[in-house]
Amino acid sequence: MMVGRIVKKKRSGGRRVREARMFATAMKSAYHPVVAQIIPTRRCNLSCSYCNEYDDFSDPVDTAEMFRRIDKLAELGTTIITASGGEPLLHPELPAIIGRVRSHGIMATLITNGFPLTRKIIRDLNRAGLDYVQISIDNVIPDGASRKSLSLLDQKLQWLAEDAAFQVSINAVLGEGIGNPADALTIARRARELDFTATVGIIHDHRGQLRPLDESRQRIYKDILRMGAPIFSFAQYGLFQKNLVDGLPNQWHCRAGCRYLYICEEGLVHRCSQQRGIPGISLGSYSRNDLERESETAKKCTPFCTVSCVHQTALLDRFRENPKAVLDQITDSRKELDPSFKPPRLVGLLRRLFLNSRNRKLFGRIALRILNIP
Ligand SMILES: C[S@@+](CC[C@H](N)C(=O)[O-])C[C@H]1O[C@@H](n2cnc3c(N)ncnc32)[C@H](O)[C@@H]1O
Ligand code: SF4
Ligand code: SF4
Repeated sequence: MMVGRIVKKKRSGGRRVREARMFATAMKSAYHPVVAQIIPTRRCNLSCSYCNEYDDFSDPVDTAEMFRRIDKLAELGTTIITASGGEPLLHPELPAIIGRVRSHGIMATLITNGFPLTRKIIRDLNRAGLDYVQISIDNVIPDGASRKSLSLLDQKLQWLAEDAAFQVSINAVLGEGIGNPADALTIARRARELDFTATVGIIHDHRGQLRPLDESRQRIYKDILRMGAPIFSFAQYGLFQKNLVDGLPNQWHCRAGCRYLYICEEGLVHRCSQQRGIPGISLGSYSRNDLERESETAKKCTPFCTVSCVHQTALLDRFRENPKAVLDQITDSRKELDPSFKPPRLVGLLRRLFLNSRNRKLFGRIALRILNIP
């Protein structure tokens, strides 16, 4: 336990610098990908009833080909690369793939159902330099919809708490078809006990569109937020999930295809996992023109979109354009849930750095110099 804590502390300093670098790069230019999701294998060991992103037969993508894709994403200026799937840990050389991401100074993150985790794999991922893992857990006891259950995964969570040098977050999906909605609260409490963060995803249909939450799920969603989720969860809540939880549309500009890229197992670029086939261009030939076109294109699927990674990148762009409005919206929505809420110091610091245009330019320039961004 002790060794894990020391390594974690040492690592978190480097991770903070990479996060700051990602933020500063996103503030500087609007035409590079903030997040790219890569699919090392489409195959999955499970078959969750709500999911359309897996099969049970695909081979892992050749590692040399994964390296080429990562190198190309680095060339495009990508700041975070996330391995997803299918189940990415079914790729026999996933630590090497993570290592390749980190060799470019890019943040490496992983989304997994956690089943293939062993203590050895956790150590291999530490060595590879993984920054962050998201484990998806849907219920306490397995049911017909999902076997991503606390009862089956708790041992893996304890190993992660003891040995992982990377940050761990647990994501529970709330929505129609997922058994007992109150399980999401139990899962979030367990995450806190283990010193992990907890997030909640809202279930979408096969085109990424909202499947409305009933009243009990709306209440549970808000209870989880009141447990003291980090400011970013509130940012997400304040800026898009609040409306979706209440079944209302959002007005926003989706920059998928530019700020967010989904690279399928065949190496094609798609806007997101739910809009595959658009633009469907090979990553090898993806260019600045493609990034610009996708950034400017208005997408019809925005009002009820629940794809949270893309909303998060949009949040950075909104902050870039109007930091005051974004900070106000985040704090107001938090206060609505909890009138005694006091904004954390980070929010105060961001206000001082970015709300005055002279400060913004000066601190922006200093940050870019310190973080070595050309
Ligand atoms: C497709 S999975 C791939 C990674 C890994 N197999 C896992 O389950 O974490 C990535 C994430 O998408 C979520 N997901 C899949 N289908 C979804 C849906 N219809 N609505 C919302 N989230 C979904 C999963 O719960 C998981 O957190
Ligand atoms: S574990 Fe992940 S990829 Fe596999 S079926 Fe479930 S959500 Fe889909
Ligand atoms: S709005 Fe963007 S992220 Fe959402 S489904 Fe459409 S293309 Fe995907």
